[in-house]
Amino acid sequence: MKVLIATEKPFAAVAVKGIKEVLTDAGYELALLEKYTEREALLAAVADVDALIVRSDKIGEDVFAAAPQLKIVVRAGAGYDNIDLAAATAHNVVVMNTPGQNANAVAELVMGLLVFTVRNFFNGKSGSELKGKTLGLLAFGNVGRNVARIAKGFGMKVQAFDAYCPAEAIEAADVKSVTSQEELFKTSDVVSLHIPATPETCQSINAQLVSSMKQDAILINTARKEIINEAELIKTLEERTDLKYISDIKPDADAVFAEKFAGRYFATPKKMGAQTAEANINAGIAAANQIVGFLKDGDNKFQVNK
Ligand code: 3PG
Repeated sequence: MKVLIATEKPFAAVAVKGIKEVLTDAGYELALLEKYTEREALLAAVADVDALIVRSDKIGEDVFAAAPQLKIVVRAGAGYDNIDLAAATAHNVVVMNTPGQNANAVAELVMGLLVFTVRNFFNGKSGSELKGKTLGLLAFGNVGRNVARIAKGFGMKVQAFDAYCPAEAIEAADVKSVTSQEELFKTSDVVSLHIPATPETCQSINAQLVSSMKQDAILINTARKEIINEAELIKTLEERTDLKYISDIKPDADAVFAEKFAGRYFATPKKMGAQTAEANINAGIAAANQIVGFLKDGDNKFQVNK
């Protein structure tokens, strides 16, 4: 069996080494395609592979059509909006993610970005503190839970809304459950977004929600740029000069945000949340183990296109 790691944004070398060990122990061959810039390079590399490990790499019909032996794709990470599930199913390919494996890395970045923000991007001017402020988590999955854990250490009050997680489960984690996303936006000093990009959530963070935020509030997005209605966010930030927007990945209108909102906008040039050696090791090795488990024993626990 041949497994390809295809990562436009590569894993740490130590993670690739760990993945290779798992696959070699299983008797599999590993091929590596990193930092590719041409689609053709990806399409050529998948021609003879049985399994594929990717990150945010776009995997669509063209890839499945170019990979006649492909049986499984594992997205080493949480969000699988980069993979065309219908095309995978049509080609009889199993798709999995590795939920939770990189959640701590993303959560630590949230807190790092928040400190950076309340200290005025380290420009030397007097800033403010996170202690005592209310943090609102939009969704309480693996990342939201990790952010809650760390934020409590900062002395923040933590509340959450999750349309798919019962209030009791939120309260059981010692986090206040609020009844709607509208209430979350209205009552938080910081709103941190942890929803996936789905047809329901795309562009859902709109003017109505953002304009209802508290005075001097911060909106932080380490989820997906697609969940933001950028035109409405720009309009709202023009009207509400007290609000700040922080994003782990540049929005499409990055140049507009950067020009109009200096001092209250920051975006990482590449998505950095999961970009740690530990997250790469956890997610990469989980992906390798899931491939071996599926190809040897038919284990499809993390399949997302069932
Ligand atoms: C995820 O969905 O797991 C994160 O957004 C990380 O994505 P990345 O592997 O492309 O950094």
